[in-house]
Amino acid sequence: MDTKVGIDKMSVYLPHFYLEMEELATARGVEVEKYTIGIGQNKMAVPTIEEDIVALGANAAKQILTEEDKGAIDQVIFATESSFDYSKASSTYIHELLEIQPFAKSFEVKEACYGATAALQLACDYVRLRPNRKVLVISADEARYGLETGGEPTQGAGAIAMLISADPQIFALDMDSISITDNQFDFWRPNYSEYSMVDGKFSTELYKNIFTRIMTKMEATQPEKLKQLRAMTFHLPFTKMGKKALGSYEELADSVFNEEEKTALLNTWKSYFEESARLNKEVGNVYTASLFLSLVSLLIFAEDLKSGDQIGLFSYGSGAVAELLVGTIQDGFLNALNKDVIVQHFNNREAIDIERYEAIFNEAVPTDDSKTTIKGPIETAGFYLAEVDAHRRYYKYRD
Ligand code: COA
Repeated sequence: MDTKVGIDKMSVYLPHFYLEMEELATARGVEVEKYTIGIGQNKMAVPTIEEDIVALGANAAKQILTEEDKGAIDQVIFATESSFDYSKASSTYIHELLEIQPFAKSFEVKEACYGATAALQLACDYVRLRPNRKVLVISADEARYGLETGGEPTQGAGAIAMLISADPQIFALDMDSISITDNQFDFWRPNYSEYSMVDGKFSTELYKNIFTRIMTKMEATQPEKLKQLRAMTFHLPFTKMGKKALGSYEELADSVFNEEEKTALLNTWKSYFEESARLNKEVGNVYTASLFLSLVSLLIFAEDLKSGDQIGLFSYGSGAVAELLVGTIQDGFLNALNKDVIVQHFNNREAIDIERYEAIFNEAVPTDDSKTTIKGPIETAGFYLAEVDAHRRYYKYRD
C-alpha cells in the first residue's frame, strides 16, 4: 500500500483583539441579525500593526514544531493574499524566526483564498516522493475591505500552520482531487490598491456555480467515493456561504443518485455544518486559512467523528480556482489537535469598541526609508513586528 501523507500537526493563531458584530452593526446602523444570521458571523478578528502575516504565521507554527521537525523540514510554503512584498516571500522570515534547517527552500504561493490548498498539494506530493522529509505550510491573511464598505462585516485575520508528513497523525489526503479554473472578476486586488475589490453578489453566485460543477464531476467520476463522505467542509469567507453552497447542490436537478440517496448524503453533511463553522464565526474571513480553520473546527467539535471517516474539503479562491480534496481522519487526530488549547486561545482574546477598531485599522507601517520602532496598542507574547528600517521588516519575540 502507498504511504499515507497529510497533515501531521496543525495549529491556529489569532490576533489578540476582536470586534463583536453587534458593535459593528450598531455603529453602521444595520440590524445585528443581518450580520449574525444573514451573513453568519459573531466576531471579527482585528490585527494590530505588530500582528502582520509573518508574526501571525510564525506564532502559529511555533506551537507545533519540535527540534526534530525543524531538521526534517525541506520546504516552508507560505500561502497568502496579504503579502506586503512583491518579491521577497513571507516564508523567508518564518524560516529564520523558527530556526528551520538552513538547506530548506522557502516561497509564497498565490491564488486568492485557494493558495493554501495549492501549497498543501505541493507539500503532499513532495513528501510522497520523500517520506522521511517534512514540509511546513503556513496560511496567514488579513482580510481588509475598508471601513464602512460592503465587505467590512466579512473582514478578519489569523493563521493556520500545518506540518505535512508521511503517516500523519491528523488527516491523510487522497492523491485524487477535482480542480477547476474559471477566469472571472469576483474578487481581486490590483497591486496599486490597498483594499480588495469585490463583487460580493457575483462572487456568491460563482462560488455556488463552481461547487455544483465540481459536485457534478465528482458524481460522474467517483460516485461511490462521494457517497462515503461523512462531512463536507468549505472555504468560508462568511459562514452563510457554506450553507448557500449546500443549498445549491440540493437544488441541482440532475444527479446520479436517487432522491433518497442524495437527501441522506446532504442531511449528513448538514448535520456537521454548524460544528465546521463554529470557529470561523468567531474570527471572520481569514482568506487562505478559512477552509483549514473550518477543518479544525469540525475535528475538535464534532464529537462522533472518528478515525477512518472521510471528509471533503471544498477550496475556493476568487478569480477563480477551486478544488475538492478528500481526506481521511487519522487515529491520533484528537491528541494532535489540542481542543482545550485552541478554545482557550479563542477565549483569551479581548473585545474592543468601534473607535479602537477604527484607530487600529488605520495604523500603517511607514513607507519611507526611516527607522521606526513599531509600537502596537498592546504587548502580547510571541513573535511581533518590532521595527521597520529602510523598508526592511524586523521581528522580535516577547515572552
Ligand atoms: N435578519 C436576518 N437576515 C438579514 C437581515 C436581518 N435583519 N437583513 C439582511 N439579512 C440577510 C439578507 O437577506 C442576506 O441573506 P441571503 O444572502 O441569504 O439572501 C444577507 O443578510 C446579506 O444581506 P445583503 O443585503 O446581501 O448584504 P450586503 O449587500 O451587505 O452584502 C456580502 C453581503 C457578504 C455579499 C458583502 O459583505 C461582501 O461582498 N463581502 C465580501 C465577500 C467576499 O469576500 N467574497 C469573495 C470571497 S469568496
